[in-house]
Amino acid sequence: MLKRFEGKVIAMAGGSGGIGGGVSRRLAQEGAAVLVGDINLEAAQRTVAEIEQAGGKAAACRLDIGDEASVSDFMAMAVRAFGGLDGCHVNALDPSRNADDVDVTMMDMANFDYMMHVNMRGYVLCTRHAVPLLVARGGGAMLYTSSGAAYVGEAVRPVYAMAKSAIHALSRHVASRFGKQGVRANVVCPGVIWHEGVAAAVGEAFKDQIVESLRVTRIGVPEDIAATAALLLSEDGGFITGQVINVDGGTTMRA
Ligand SMILES: NC(=O)c1ccc[n+]([C@@H]2O[C@H](COP(=O)([O-])OP(=O)(O)OC[C@H]3O[C@@H](n4cnc5c(N)ncnc54)[C@H](O)[C@@H]3O)[C@@H](O)[C@H]2O)c1
Repeated sequence: MLKRFEGKVIAMAGGSGGIGGGVSRRLAQEGAAVLVGDINLEAAQRTVAEIEQAGGKAAACRLDIGDEASVSDFMAMAVRAFGGLDGCHVNALDPSRNADDVDVTMMDMANFDYMMHVNMRGYVLCTRHAVPLLVARGGGAMLYTSSGAAYVGEAVRPVYAMAKSAIHALSRHVASRFGKQGVRANVVCPGVIWHEGVAAAVGEAFKDQIVESLRVTRIGVPEDIAATAALLLSEDGGFITGQVINVDGGTTMRA
């Protein structure tokens, strides 16, 4: 295993779900001190316990990315617990209003506001509070999790797509505005990434159908996103900024 994060501190916002848990574990394996933030504190604590059992360094924090005070406390905890911040991966998603996210002409606008508040504005809040800490450290990296839904065009989930699309613009702003202060910003776009939560939502049978549609021989797993996140957050990704990287088994092919 590479050790690209020795002495580095990474804040994971939404760090204990399927993908976030995989990224947190990978960064810790590579030597990072990982602050695992999640609205589900017990899940964050479980991820931290797994990391510690494997000999890694981590701390758990209850985080609601929709609440600025909570985001501010989360970033402050990185400094308090580990001395500063070198990277932040904003990965959280609140799917609780997904059922209403089907048709722009029929949606409940209160649900629209809620979804954008958490899943888009929350990413802005994390950025506002992380970037000054990265700058204070002499530079660092922001990483955001998006989705191919941001640009493929679908008859459903317009708010999800709009929230993710906005995150692409945010990352390009951060890359442009803070690049000369040593801050890079990128987006990872997963295809279908199979984990417990996805299996429970769509059913095991769907898996073969997905694999059939890919240009590779297997389903995507959180470790695939973790490997890309580790690259983009580390100095190996030092010349990559303002990019949207698809990690989707060839679902999306574009220059
Ligand atoms: N799994 C996939 O197939 C897939 C595909 C494309 C994009 N994505 C994206 O990947 C990211 C992770 O998805 P996942 O599949 O691991 O989902 P997940 O539900 O397993 O993880 C999401 C995490 O975010 C946390 N969270 C929810 N609301 C929060 C809030 N307000 N503040 C902080 N944390 C909060 C949840 O507790 C959970 O741990 C999401 O941004 C999602 O849009 C996933």
